[in-house]
Amino acid sequence: MKSQNVVIGKNVKIGKNVTLGHNVIVEDNTEIGDNVFIYHNTIIGQKPLPTKILTRKTKIEGTTKIGNNVSIGSNTVIYSGCIIGVNTIIADLVAIRENCKIGAKCIIGTGVTINFGAIIKNKVRIVNSTHITSDTIIEDSVFVSTLVATTNNNKMGRSAYKMKGIHIKKGASIGAGATFLPNITVGKNAVVGAGSVVTKDVPDEKLVLGIPARIIKDTPMDLKLQTKKT
Ligand SMILES: CC(C)(COP(=O)(O)OP(=O)(O)OC[C@H]1O[C@@H](n2cnc3c(N)ncnc32)[C@H](O)[C@@H]1OP(=O)(O)O)[C@@H](O)C(=O)NCCC(=O)NCCS
Repeated sequence: MKSQNVVIGKNVKIGKNVTLGHNVIVEDNTEIGDNVFIYHNTIIGQKPLPTKILTRKTKIEGTTKIGNNVSIGSNTVIYSGCIIGVNTIIADLVAIRENCKIGAKCIIGTGVTINFGAIIKNKVRIVNSTHITSDTIIEDSVFVSTLVATTNNNKMGRSAYKMKGIHIKKGASIGAGATFLPNITVGKNAVVGAGSVVTKDVPDEKLVLGIPARIIKDTPMDLKLQTKKT
């Protein structure tokens, strides 16, 4: 099958053995590594919308880079200045805004949205339909379930507020439908139960749940990051 309507911009480098589906657009200033697979209707390196009404102005930080062996599904949009690490999988209908950095061996599920400048390290799994707010940091081997909501503005845009994303430390696990208020830190190997509303920092190695989330116990062994090789 020969792909149709593929559009390649200026200053684009494409590695060896790269597959581009129908209607894929690779915008200017993009580097795509070897053995990359990008499925139909996906856009790499999209420019921010030309609008004056957004309060946040984004300055693009250099070339958009897709690492070796990355697979990206259909109808996904990766904005300019993003860097995607080797062996990462990004599913269908994902939107990743400007200047995000995603590490190696991550799995980003269908319909996940990741806002400006988020940093997601290695072996992170984010399940379908979760929203990662801007400037969030997610460390290695974190698991984030489906329909998780992270926030960065307690004033909801009504008055001045210094927006701040959340920080999830290495090996933490976040249950389905958990909601995080801005500027929360979730400790190493911590667990957040499904449906929790997290209003305070979660210490390392603790399991919290409920609305508001309260510490219930130490993280059980079977919910800690296993050290087996992956
Ligand atoms: C937090 C969690 C890990 C706790 O598991 P656990 O240690 O086995 O806890 P238990 O099932 O023994 O429950 C202990 C108590 O907490 C309650 N509880 C458990 N999870 C809860 C939650 N998310 N919110 C509120 N209460 C919860 C139980 O009803 C039980 O209450 P009881 O003692 O009054 O009967 C688990 O319940 C959870 O939320 N898992 C996340 C599932 C998920 O989202 N997976 C993602 C797959 S994509």
